[in-house]
Amino acid sequence: MNILAFESSCDETSVAVVRDGRTVLSNVVASQTELHSLYGGVVPEIASRRHMELIRTLTEQALEQAGMSKSDIDAVACTTAPGLIGALLVGLSFAKAFAYGLGVPFIPVHHIRGHVAANYLAFPELKPPFVALVASGGHSSILHVTDYTAYKTLGITRDDAAGECFDKIARVLGLGYPGGALLDKLAEGGNPNAYKLPRGKIDGSPMDMSFSGLKTSVLNIINSAKQRGEEINTKDLSASFSQAVCDVLIPRLKSALEITNEKTVVLAGGVAANSWLRQELKQSVNGKNLYLAPLTLCGDNAAMIGAQGFYEFQAGNTAELSHNALATCKADKCLC
Ligand code: KG4
Ligand code: ZN
Repeated sequence: MNILAFESSCDETSVAVVRDGRTVLSNVVASQTELHSLYGGVVPEIASRRHMELIRTLTEQALEQAGMSKSDIDAVACTTAPGLIGALLVGLSFAKAFAYGLGVPFIPVHHIRGHVAANYLAFPELKPPFVALVASGGHSSILHVTDYTAYKTLGITRDDAAGECFDKIARVLGLGYPGGALLDKLAEGGNPNAYKLPRGKIDGSPMDMSFSGLKTSVLNIINSAKQRGEEINTKDLSASFSQAVCDVLIPRLKSALEITNEKTVVLAGGVAANSWLRQELKQSVNGKNLYLAPLTLCGDNAAMIGAQGFYEFQAGNTAELSHNALATCKADKCLC
């Protein structure tokens, strides 16, 4: 089954063709980083407009690279939640029109389920059940995936997402936007114990996460050093911050494995590209089957939506053309 897939929930416009949920025939990704870097973060209105400018050409490119014409497409999948609402609506409207024009089913896909499904593309043997950690610019979730379309959120961030903190700290350090990868590079070889940083906890909800206190602590260190005219060791600070993020995520992931009795762990989302996190995970979850999404599929892309779209289709989760986008929505919820 050939699925034409769309992703436009934030600042990447992406169109892909995926066969049977496992094989990427094309995956065209246009990043808007340059446009938004001027403002130090994603400007939703600019993102929506850029998606509109790009989506048609990218669709032609995705079909061409897959060596296909429109008539070879069996279904259309699209991220419809969660994300920036204007940005989502561009992909959704285009995808629905395409499905209607071709007379094929329309499959709404949850963005977080899509991130998890990036691993199905890279690892043919991987199948549920497993525990997944999805960490990105907008989300930090620990999930129990009992089947391709059966999700239970075990823990979620109560405030900032991990990636948001990477971006904010990198911005204040003057590294540029998006800052995750730049901060990752800076942390290399730094001392993770040089700066004492908090590890947030939520009373009564041990699996939930909080990153805003950690972010504020780092920002306070930078700002007070600036005010006093003191130098800070940015390498050590980045390493200390990266370690603190790992110390929030990894123990919760280990608890999730214990609670669910699962033997397989899946890492996904933009922050899954973080080398500190990948390294720490490899060391701390030994004895389990650990799947780390390949770097090329960690960030937002439409191939992961095509992969999850296949399994949603198999579960009968297709939608009417009246289907709408949602800015927020847990991965547990069926979108149809
Ligand atoms: O999954 P994604 O492309 O978009 C969302 O769904 O949010 O994730 C983007 C986020 C950004 O915050 C970016 O800074 C972060 O992932 N990121 C990283 C790294 N590469 C990207 N964070 C830490 N280390 C990295 N190497
Ligand atoms: Zn994402």
